[in-house]
Amino acid sequence: MHIVFHKNTKIFHLYNHEISYIMTILPNGHLGQLYFGKAIRDREDFSHLLEESFRTTSSYFSEELSTMSLEHLKQEYPVYGTTDYREPALEVIQADGSRLSDLQYDSYQITPGKPKLSGLPATYTEHDEEAMTLIVTLKDPVTGLKISLSYTIFKGRSVIARSVHFINEGTETLHLGRAMSLSMDLPDCNYEWLQFSGVWARERHLKTRNLEPGILSVGSLRGSSSHEHNPFVILKRPNTDETQGEAIGFSLIYSGNFLAQAEVDNQNVTRILMGIHPDTFDWKLLPGTEFQTPEAVMAYSGSGLNRLSQTLHSLYQKRLARGYWRDRPRPILINNWEATYFDFNEDRLVDIAGKAKECGVELFVLDDGWFGARRSDYAGLGDWTANRDLLPGGIAGIAERIEALGMKFGLWFEPEMVNEDSDLYRAHPDWILRTPRRRASLGRHQYVLDFSRREVVDCIHAMMAKLLREAKISYIKWDMNRYITECYSAALPADQQGEVFHRYILGVYDLYDRLTSEFPHVLFESCASGGARFDPGLLYYAPQGWTSDDTDAIERQKIQYGTSYCYPVSCMGSHVSAVPNHQLNRNTPLYTRANVAYFGTFGYELDLNKLTVEEQEEVKRQIAFMKEYRELIQFGTFYRLLSPFEGNITSWMVVSPDKKTAIAGWYKILNQVNAPFSRIRLQGLDPELCYHLEGSNQSFYGDELMNVGLFTSDAMCGKSGDRRPSCDFDSRLYVFKA
Ligand code: DGJ
Repeated sequence: MHIVFHKNTKIFHLYNHEISYIMTILPNGHLGQLYFGKAIRDREDFSHLLEESFRTTSSYFSEELSTMSLEHLKQEYPVYGTTDYREPALEVIQADGSRLSDLQYDSYQITPGKPKLSGLPATYTEHDEEAMTLIVTLKDPVTGLKISLSYTIFKGRSVIARSVHFINEGTETLHLGRAMSLSMDLPDCNYEWLQFSGVWARERHLKTRNLEPGILSVGSLRGSSSHEHNPFVILKRPNTDETQGEAIGFSLIYSGNFLAQAEVDNQNVTRILMGIHPDTFDWKLLPGTEFQTPEAVMAYSGSGLNRLSQTLHSLYQKRLARGYWRDRPRPILINNWEATYFDFNEDRLVDIAGKAKECGVELFVLDDGWFGARRSDYAGLGDWTANRDLLPGGIAGIAERIEALGMKFGLWFEPEMVNEDSDLYRAHPDWILRTPRRRASLGRHQYVLDFSRREVVDCIHAMMAKLLREAKISYIKWDMNRYITECYSAALPADQQGEVFHRYILGVYDLYDRLTSEFPHVLFESCASGGARFDPGLLYYAPQGWTSDDTDAIERQKIQYGTSYCYPVSCMGSHVSAVPNHQLNRNTPLYTRANVAYFGTFGYELDLNKLTVEEQEEVKRQIAFMKEYRELIQFGTFYRLLSPFEGNITSWMVVSPDKKTAIAGWYKILNQVNAPFSRIRLQGLDPELCYHLEGSNQSFYGDELMNVGLFTSDAMCGKSGDRRPSCDFDSRLYVFKA
């Protein structure tokens, strides 16, 4: 990979074998965008890529620069109010009330590797040779604000990671009213916009919209990235599909309020903005102080959406997730939540764990209800000490008993919350987010602790770390079950209240950082009423997340399929649960529940004692299967084949790095009478290799499976008599070995 600055033509070119990113210093001193896309060869002069012309009704810079209308220039970090009328990347509110800035090019710096972002999650390098970073510094001559735009290009990856750093080098206090992580002006609007939206138990459903003149956006004002929208969008060409065509993915490594927006202007230029949501943001920048935006990642694919996703999977799996568990197949767990809810005692838990151990489960997770006065969700949050009536030996005691069974022990926390009925709230009623003179709304009978305050984070840290030191805890599920309302911190002055949402998330990251540093072998799983904070920010600390509270195998197909556009299989928490399903009351076969849950971190969310002996035997076979193939499934190359958003059949597959093993999942919602013959074209195989289909006497070359396809006709449509009769909610797994 290379980053070059062509001095004579004032052009920056970042490129590797896959992509090019080209910028220029504009005649007025601002930074202009020239190209982002498939790699093109470098040359001294790209100035012909700069399109500018005088247009009637446009305002322009000066009589000398009469074609310089910012309205018609593609820029890197635009501001509003000079000659550009589009929504800007930056807004700086000054002491005199003015909001204009003039971001003049100052200098640049190229460094090997990638500098860390202080206090924020971000992609990283392990060796300097993996990436190069360009930092372009701009300065506003009036305020003295220094803005450093950072661009990292990685070797062999089709991504650019971007963020922005501010230092107030002037003498007046400034307020950042908007400081986006990324702004990108694309030369046309011939794109479809893909977003991943939903609600509790229906997260990350794929929705497609056309770009039209005007603004289209998704975002969150809920204090977390939210169930409703994910901080990830794709722009794809109308003809792009999973296997071919151009697409750009925009992903924000952040867990709080965000905005992702496309604005198509009067000349069909598309401006993408991504960053902290400006509506709830106002950062006071005293002279001499700094501000760092979260990082945004732009990924490019010239060969379809699967390739785009694989690019992000690999980056997030290897250079965003960290630590001991990053590259390790994940333990198969059993979680007691849907098995017991709040109705348990130690013996009941050990009973559940014992049967799970017998079936091959490796980790027992004690979910909500083990602490303080928590016997329902009205009390106890904030008091992170074991309820001795339920757990006479405390957490250390039950952990010992689980370990004695030969399993690891995991524990649930909801660190950011407090119930009114708790010792913590009684001692510190002012520690919640709450606007003075106003009522405080509830969510699940609880308040949100003010994590923008150091002493609050310290207190929660002390309670959690004590338990982690005293007891054999191998796993933590970190939950967060309500959104923020009446956001206000009693510890900050009036003119810093616009910082609270962001400072809250910084507090969450700080606690994660302290705990993951002190307990590096503990596996963290993030959770927020299922998937309300399933974002790259948390992936940096917790290499897996609870994908959704919806454990129904049919609903999960959409959720996991939608999630896969950005996130790798290794981070998707997915469990087999009881039937009738607790969210939908639906009955699905045990094999289908497992066939869906295999494509994730895999576990069980029920009391296995309640299954029949035959079902328990089936569970043993499922666990043995997952142990054999989890490394391939969690770390192989993932392909989407048939979309649940388009039809009755869903299919996906994974291929091992050496292409010698592949597993395809096939799922049907409703059975069909006299169904047509069907086949799916597999992907990612070696055309030259001959693959044996396990459990059959059939073998096929890779080229046949990818071009003719794998025949998947229903057993009852007249051909494949060797399979079990088909039914509603049917599924199959096809394992291929070269
Ligand atoms: C919401 C989570 O998503 C569930 O898995 C469970 O942990 C409950 N919270 C417990 O309150």
